[in-house]
Amino acid sequence: MTNCRICGGNVREFFDFGRQPVSDAFIDPSGGETEFFYQLAVGYCTACAMVQQLKEVSRDRMFPADYPYRSSGSAVMREHFAATADRFLATELAGDDPFYVEIGCNDGILLGAISRAGVRHLGVDPAEGAVEVARAHGCRVRDGFFEAATGVGIRAAEGPAQLIFSANTISHIGYIDSIFAGADALLAPGGVFVFEDRYVGDIIENTYFDQVYDEHFYLFGVRSVRNMARRFGFDLVDVEHLPVHGGAMRYTTARAGERVPTDAVGDWLAVEEKGLTELSVYEEFGARVETNSRALVELLTSLRAEGRSVVGYGATSKSATVTNYCGIGPELIPFICDSTPEKQGRLTPGSRIPILPPAAFSDPYPDYAVLFAWNHAAEIMAKERAFREADGRWILYVPDVHIV
Ligand code: SAM
Ligand code: TMP
Ligand code: ZN
Repeated sequence: MTNCRICGGNVREFFDFGRQPVSDAFIDPSGGETEFFYQLAVGYCTACAMVQQLKEVSRDRMFPADYPYRSSGSAVMREHFAATADRFLATELAGDDPFYVEIGCNDGILLGAISRAGVRHLGVDPAEGAVEVARAHGCRVRDGFFEAATGVGIRAAEGPAQLIFSANTISHIGYIDSIFAGADALLAPGGVFVFEDRYVGDIIENTYFDQVYDEHFYLFGVRSVRNMARRFGFDLVDVEHLPVHGGAMRYTTARAGERVPTDAVGDWLAVEEKGLTELSVYEEFGARVETNSRALVELLTSLRAEGRSVVGYGATSKSATVTNYCGIGPELIPFICDSTPEKQGRLTPGSRIPILPPAAFSDPYPDYAVLFAWNHAAEIMAKERAFREADGRWILYVPDVHIV
């Protein structure tokens, strides 16, 4: 039995992906580095409903100074965060001399807009390479991990924050008690701690099994986040479903008793009551993962036997789970194209598939491309329209294996 990282309750394992590498630890082909692997299994806490991994990878392994992910690589995400910044500037940051703090600001995709608006701000992120990019765009950023002491230190040095925001980061952090303690120390009276992360309901419903990888330590839902916030002295006061990354949820939390929850919280709790509170729902997801994975390997193997060329598109963190769980290496997918300079010339973790710039995609076009960055499908398919016009076909493996 494993104890819940949030409440200490009983976590029931529902799927084991086996030995997996650190999803963003792209390999330098010239170096003799030994790769780190760990057992990636997920479970459901029957006490507080939090879906979580059974083993934790240390934060220094997942988020080293040269962490390669760059948020600004997607036009859709740039628009999403620009709209988010506008909303914050018109609401929580509309008062006199507001102060905004962002946990996991990466390359400043959102923080840049706050900075350009002339609002006092501070980002906190350990990924020094990404932080340099944010600073070059005029953002104030502190290198390092946010935790309780960071919140206390920022409050002492710069005063209270009206808004603490974090996107696609809080669910990556096992030590959430420390994050909420830091938020409590730093928030102004009536201030809010808002975070958005992939939504467990979308992941289960659509069998997005590749959303399970080291960084996604928790898969948040409305019920589990409400319980978590309560445990750490906060109320969940609003939720908003977002279309990005295949489905995400924005959670607004405030110190207990400071704000009245909106109807959306109760509405989403009712939705989850019907579909996410039974262990069997998660076990059925596990069965579908096996079916989809087998179908993907069978498709790639038969295409190879027919002499068709297949490459990958988007060396996402998600692709680590797919390639390593399915046992897909360069013999089935000789390379993956990716627009991130920090990933090009490297090999995918574990599966060791070379990563090439997008220019390699059309040189010549393959017969098929596995779209690992399916969350950016509309943007990538529009950009690569000529591939379809040249009779190329996209292979998707969620919600099931299909060709478009
Ligand atoms: N917010 C961006 C977005 O939504 O695209 C970046 C998301 S990226 C997946 C997660 C970021 O959180 C990384 O840049 C990582 O370095 C940072 N991070 C991880 N743990 C953190 C912590 N405890 N405090 C601050 N940043 C953290
Ligand atoms: P993400 O799913 O974690 O956001 O990662 C998306 C990956 O896909 C990232 O490595 C960048 C890459 N990508 C491209 O290669 N071309 C594109 O047009 C987009 C939007 C992303
Ligand atoms: Zn629990």
